Amino acid sequence: MSETVAETSSDTRQNRRSIVLWGLAAVGVVAGYGTGLWHFMKYLVPLGDKVRYREMFVGPVDALQVGQSRLVRTPAGETFLMARTEDGFRVLSDICPHLGCRVHWEPQTKQFICPCHMGIFDEEGLAISGPPAEAGQRLVALDTVVRGGSVFVLIKEA
Ligand code: FES
Repeated sequence: MSETVAETSSDTRQNRRSIVLWGLAAVGVVAGYGTGLWHFMKYLVPLGDKVRYREMFVGPVDALQVGQSRLVRTPAGETFLMARTEDGFRVLSDICPHLGCRVHWEPQTKQFICPCHMGIFDEEGLAISGPPAEAGQRLVALDTVVRGGSVFVLIKEA
């Protein structure tokens, strides 16, 4: 009789241990596959992860006269040319998307020029001549905000 009770007690402990182990395994499987499924669904249906921007002060409005340009360096070390036109400020990468030469601003024609292969970009940064135009390239642009007599560029946060 006591042997039967001991066996039953041992079987019960064994069953509980099995239930706990199966429970932990099930939680692991659900967590693992659930995470994978979540990332797969995010890939299929982007939830519109919001891109955040912050303003970076680049100088007073009066620091540039119409037609002038100056270099702007972002905290990440990227360089941009800020040019002032009659319509406002343009801030475009000074790196040509063709082969990486430096572009400069031509105020008379209101164009950004790459001297390496005569790539020409309009004031919005769209390539209109040369190899970059043939490849449909453009200069990377930063949006600007003018407020309180100061110019800011919008920098994408990581
Ligand atoms: S590198 Fe600018 S046009 Fe070729």
